[in-house]
Amino acid sequence: MDISVKARLTRRLLAVIVGLAAALLPAGAASAHEVGGVGATNFATTLSALSPAVPGVSLAVVENGSRLELRNSTGREVVVRGYSDEPYARIGPDGVWLNDGSPATYLNADRFASTTVPADADPAAPPRWRKISDETVHRWHDHRIHWMLTTLPTAVAAAPTAAHRISDWHVDLDHDGTVLSATGSLDWVPGPSPTPWYLLTAVSALVVVGAVYTRRAHALVAAALGALIATDVLHAAGIALVTTGNVPERLSAFLGDGLTGLLIWPFGLVAAVLIARKATFLGFVAMGVGGLLSSMMALDDAPVWWRSSAPSALPADLNRAGVALVVGLGAGLLVAGPLLWRRFKPAPHRTASTVASTDAPPVSPPTEPVEGVEADHATESVASAEPEGRAGHHEAAPVVLGARAARAAAAAAPGDAPARGDATETGQAEAATVGRRGFAGTLAAGGVGAILGAAGGIVAGAPGEPAAPQAGPPAEPLSGVGTTRIAFHGERQAGITTPARPQARLRIVAFDLADGVDRAGLQGLLRRWTQAAAQLSQGLPLGDSGDDIVTGAGPSSLTVTVGFGPSLFGKAALPAAARPAELTPLPAFPGEQLDAAHSDGDLCLLVHADDALVAFRAARALTRLAAPQARVRWQLDGFNNSPGVTPTAATGRNLMGQLDGTNNPQPTDEDFAAKVYVTDPAAPGWLRGGSVLVVRRIRMLLDDWDAQPREAQERVIGRRKDTGAPLSGGVERTPANFGTTTADGALAIPADAHIRLATPAFNNGAAMLRRGYSYSDGDAAGLIFLAWQADPRRGFVPVQQRLAGTDALNRFIRHETSALFAMPHGVAPGGHLGQDLFGDDPA
Ligand code: HEM
Repeated sequence: MDISVKARLTRRLLAVIVGLAAALLPAGAASAHEVGGVGATNFATTLSALSPAVPGVSLAVVENGSRLELRNSTGREVVVRGYSDEPYARIGPDGVWLNDGSPATYLNADRFASTTVPADADPAAPPRWRKISDETVHRWHDHRIHWMLTTLPTAVAAAPTAAHRISDWHVDLDHDGTVLSATGSLDWVPGPSPTPWYLLTAVSALVVVGAVYTRRAHALVAAALGALIATDVLHAAGIALVTTGNVPERLSAFLGDGLTGLLIWPFGLVAAVLIARKATFLGFVAMGVGGLLSSMMALDDAPVWWRSSAPSALPADLNRAGVALVVGLGAGLLVAGPLLWRRFKPAPHRTASTVASTDAPPVSPPTEPVEGVEADHATESVASAEPEGRAGHHEAAPVVLGARAARAAAAAAPGDAPARGDATETGQAEAATVGRRGFAGTLAAGGVGAILGAAGGIVAGAPGEPAAPQAGPPAEPLSGVGTTRIAFHGERQAGITTPARPQARLRIVAFDLADGVDRAGLQGLLRRWTQAAAQLSQGLPLGDSGDDIVTGAGPSSLTVTVGFGPSLFGKAALPAAARPAELTPLPAFPGEQLDAAHSDGDLCLLVHADDALVAFRAARALTRLAAPQARVRWQLDGFNNSPGVTPTAATGRNLMGQLDGTNNPQPTDEDFAAKVYVTDPAAPGWLRGGSVLVVRRIRMLLDDWDAQPREAQERVIGRRKDTGAPLSGGVERTPANFGTTTADGALAIPADAHIRLATPAFNNGAAMLRRGYSYSDGDAAGLIFLAWQADPRRGFVPVQQRLAGTDALNRFIRHETSALFAMPHGVAPGGHLGQDLFGDDPA
């Protein structure tokens, strides 16, 4: 079919639907979903017995307590007595007869006895029978079985949430000279909480609105409309099934007063199909149908959510869910319609955007975001291409094209195609020509995005196209920095020599044990830390609010290393004598100005990561897990270059600008492990395979330092600043020659140069692995000196003793804090750090 014809039909269909919807709305609102005048209610009428029972005579409460129904197949008449015991109705083989002299004949005509009883009605007078039906069944509003007032019974009003017996009732029937007595009760049964149904309503509405912003917006909105109609049909069927009467009466109940269903459902279904095929404009039909049914349902049937019974054959909760879905989906569609239009409306028509093909009318380029499109999608939405000013139809609804037309659409471009009037008269050859030119034009106009979008489902904008809402810039995969995971479990703790290149960020937190913490308390804390650290280092969430901090971030080489300070021994049932020799407190060094409050600590957490947020999140989570057994004593943040900023193997620089770490023990050294890790068989088991960490926060007096000429700075260290080469010559890794002299006979590496005093050769081989971080805290800045070794007594202590005396660097630095921690060996899965801290008997 010609696209413009389709578009016109679509618009007309829409106009009809909108008109009908408008016309039906008042009728719909008025057509309450009641049966026999009763909707959802907490009143419950029960028939207990019909006694004596007579085969062929049956009595039932129908229409949710509104009426009684008597069936008589005995071949003999049953007479129903009225309110004065007079004969009211006669049901027998010759049909149903009413006594016009009985007031019940008038009072029972409707639910609330609103029919005026004529003055000549006299229950004591002989019956004046009038036949009303040939059937052998009669239903009447017997006002003995239900509550007649519009106000609640006093007891119910006083306590509406409690159950109440309101009355016991009885109705007498006469059958063949026998009185059949029907007895029953009228109760007040409080309804359930409506909250779940409010929630279901809200969720279904939100789902529909949210669907507009998915790649399958049309399909999902269409599905919502279809589901809405299906649910409404089911709901109506439930009502029809409890409606008494003949087929037309039941059908009428099914379709609703004013045949709302008959008129609305088919249009809604047609609209759903068209929307599914991307007729965006019909979102407004969905809106109309949804809004209509939703408002009707909300007005009429919402009480089923909080009342105990409803006139429906469906199970009560299924009925409630159905009402919630119709109200929710309808409300959602009310909002979704305009949103769908806003998101997918065709671009304003451009005359030049038309193109012809043999069977396709002129079309404009695909302008809608494409939902889950394959490259050669057989159906594609394009705007109808009636020229602007022609009948003013440039807002025409999108329609569905065949694959060929879709390809033509993709090839069409602004500025090249003939106007529609010409195009329809051109042949395929010209269309192809125009298409190719159009493609080029499209590229030139930046429409390549639209074509890519059509091919790959990427939402991309073209000039003049309405901006499609997007979630944000397309997500790029995490780089190696974010995704890198360092194994947590292993023989040694991570964060000491792994990863080989120290991470960019450090957060170190020292804790003091709370008073009275016992062995179990300490072990519990270590268990919590171990578990959390294992998860965090693998990028797994902990399930607390801190997870938000790292939403979207990878583990980023996170390591958590746990250590014990000398002061831990003597606490938590750990004897002071159990402190290993390696953990002998550091001696005082000349010149240091230590801040005791920010030094030492019973426990320490060393958190490294290549991202500051990741490090912070982990340290914070672990700090929280320390409570109540331990509280923070001090903490420090450090930084180095971020990965990727310098060559991977390059030595990092400190804030004085020097390459720092050049002459560290290298992993390739034969004795590397023996220098860094505790191997002494005399060391306690928990420490063997561990390492001892010296932490010194050393402030750099940068103003003084920066005032020095470069050459003077280089002589302080004994190495060139730029290359890190020793002043004795060579390149960075050239071993320093401490005997080399300059032309004037002076030592190339001065006598007080830092490396001369620190080097193992002049310190009985004392060695340590320095993996320091810079810190900056207000005006203060410097080095968080971290030195790992098997035993500080053969590492840091002798070197620092020497440095503290004559190191030229001392004029530019100040040791302000100090701490010492023994890091236990690593942990296997299932175990926890420090498990053997109390000996071989793990807690
Ligand atoms: C802010 C304070 C410090 C700064 C700026 C600093 C800087 C440096 C620099 C630039 C080097 C030469 C490159 C290298 O081999 O790493 C170095 C070497 C060294 N530093 Fe320090 N350092 C500081 C404190 C310390 C302390 C407290 C110790 C230990 C007590 C120490 C021990 C060493 C050792 C052992 C070497 C290697 C010497 C060699 O064999 O060449 N440093 N330091």
